[in-house]
Amino acid sequence: MTIREILKMGDARLLRIAPPVTEFDTDELHLLITDMLDTMLAANGAGLAAPQIGVDLQLVIFGTDARNPRYPDAPPVPKTVLLNPIITPLPAMDGDATLSEIEDWEGCLSVPGLRAVVPRYSRIRYTGFDQYGDPIDRTVEGFHARVVQHECDHLIGTLYPMRVRDFTRFGFTEVLFPGLDAALDD
Ligand code: NI
Repeated sequence: MTIREILKMGDARLLRIAPPVTEFDTDELHLLITDMLDTMLAANGAGLAAPQIGVDLQLVIFGTDARNPRYPDAPPVPKTVLLNPIITPLPAMDGDATLSEIEDWEGCLSVPGLRAVVPRYSRIRYTGFDQYGDPIDRTVEGFHARVVQHECDHLIGTLYPMRVRDFTRFGFTEVLFPGLDAALDD
């Protein structure tokens, strides 16, 4: 197992548009995913995108099957390996054409020590492939939808501060949430 260095905001490698994965189920890919899972676990992250460890590929992992100390109130999200994702925003309810957004707090392992309120689509469909090349097709909402949008933004060189609209709700975690265990935060 190898815990890889997570790149921090300011590193130009976080701003690239990642190309798709073209070969599935290879030793190299499985090794990369193992490293990403180890790295995410060690950092108590809810997700990690390959560009965050300097690998320029459309590959994200996410999931919070147990209580995540960085997101103590978040409902569990299944552990997922997602390659070449496509996100389609959906109306909040069937029969209603309006796309709705929801605002909530986000942090990022590449932006340590900070949190902000970020608007995201409340409901999305996402498709893509797992590491074996098998298709993934899910319709999700809430925190699950937020995590997927956050991680997939990393594949187009977008970090959450670029999505912030209200900068009065952007600050240091220890100031915004003094009760949160600082040792467990990024
Ligand atoms: Ni992030």
